[in-house]
Amino acid sequence: MADHATPRVSLRGLRPETPRGTGLAIGRTHAPPPYPERMLVLGIDTSCDDTAAGVLRGPREILSNEVASQYDLHAAFGGVVPEIASRAHAERVTRVIERALEKAGVAAADLDAIAVTNRPGLVGSLMVGVAAAKSLAFALDIPLVGVHHIEAHCTAAMAEHEDLDYPFLALVASGGHTAIYDCRGPGEVVVLHQTIDDAAGECFDKVAVMLGLEQPGGPSVSRLAEGGNPKAVRFPRARVKDDPLAFSFSGVKTAVLYYLKGPGGRRDAPDRADLDVSYADVAASFEQAVVDVLVKRSLDAVARRGVRDLVVGGGVAANRRLRADLAAKAPEGVRVRFPSMGLCADNGAMIALRGAEMLAQGITSALDLDVSPTGETVS
Ligand code: KG4
Ligand code: ZN
Repeated sequence: MADHATPRVSLRGLRPETPRGTGLAIGRTHAPPPYPERMLVLGIDTSCDDTAAGVLRGPREILSNEVASQYDLHAAFGGVVPEIASRAHAERVTRVIERALEKAGVAAADLDAIAVTNRPGLVGSLMVGVAAAKSLAFALDIPLVGVHHIEAHCTAAMAEHEDLDYPFLALVASGGHTAIYDCRGPGEVVVLHQTIDDAAGECFDKVAVMLGLEQPGGPSVSRLAEGGNPKAVRFPRARVKDDPLAFSFSGVKTAVLYYLKGPGGRRDAPDRADLDVSYADVAASFEQAVVDVLVKRSLDAVARRGVRDLVVGGGVAANRRLRADLAAKAPEGVRVRFPSMGLCADNGAMIALRGAEMLAQGITSALDLDVSPTGETVS
C-alpha cells in the first residue's frame, strides 16, 4: 500500500519546504515605518459573533465602521455556537469589508495596511477574519498586523478623546471579559484585576433569558430597567476574598434566578406566584448591582494607582447607568473616557486603531500569522 503522509495544514509547516521563487513570501514581514501620515488601515474583527470591518485614516480618524451581528442565528441556543459563528463569518466577511470600503469612499488599492484580530476569541471565527486579512494583504502587497482584541477595546476611546494618552487604566466589560487593565504604553497592557467567573455582559445576557427578553441581553435588560426601581430588590454585590478589586458576577445572576423562581429554582420552573415587584424593578435592581460593582472596583483601582484617566470599553460600556454613575462618582481630577456607542461593542475600527498604533511602532505580522483562543498575555 502506498504510504500516505499526513497532510500538513499549517502554513508554518509549509514554509521551510516552499521552494525559492514561489513569490509567496509567507514568512516575510513588511518594512517598518515611515508609513504615510494619513495612512489608510482596514480593521477586521471576527473574534466572536459579530463580523466587523472599519477603515481608519491616520492615527484616529474613523471613516467607516460596519458590523453584521449574528444574534438571530444563535438566539435559539442560549449562547454563541462556534460552528454557526464561523460559517456565518465566512459567508459575510467579504461583503462587510466591501461595505466598510464603500462607506469610507476608499478603494481596496488605496489601503496602506490590514489589521485583524488574531487573539483572543473563538478559533474558527478568528481564522475566518485572519484568512480574509491575509488574502487582502497578500493581493495588495501591503502590511498585515495581528491585533489583540482586548488591547483594541482598551484603545477604542482614543479615537474621540484627542488628549487621551498613556498611562491610563481601562475597564473592559464585555460578553467574554471583565477586567481592569493597566495601560502603560502602546502594547504594554497588563491585566490587574479580573472576573473569577462570569463576565458582566454574559450576566446581562443570561438575566435577559430569565426575563424573556431578546438577545443581546444588555440593551434589552437596560431598556426594561429604565422603567423600574433600582432599589426594589437588594441583589448581592459580591467581593472576591483574595483580591478586593476583582469581580464575581455568577452570584448576582443566580440571585436573580432564585428571586424569580424561588430558592433553588430551576431555569425552566414557573415564576413565583407571590412576586411582589415588576420585571422592570428586577431588571433595574440587577443592573444597579452590576453597575455598582463595576464603578466601585474601577474607581478604587484608579485611586490605588494614582492615574488620572479611566478608559471604559467593551459592549457593557454602552450601558447608560454605568456611564452616568461613573461620571457622577469619579472624584475631581479623574477623567472617565467612554468611547461613543459604535466603538463600545466589537467593531473593526478599534482593530484598525490599535493596528495603526502597532504599525507606528514598527510592528507587522508575517503571512503565517496564527490565531490564539486565549491570548491571555496582553503585554
Ligand atoms: O464587546 P462585545 O461586543 O463582545 C464581546 O467581546 O463579548 O460585548 C457584547 C456584550 C453582550 O454581553 C451584551 O449584552 C453587552 O455587551 N452589552 C450591554 C449593553 N450593550 C451591550 N450590557 C449592558 N448594557 C448595555 N447597554
Ligand atoms: Zn469584545
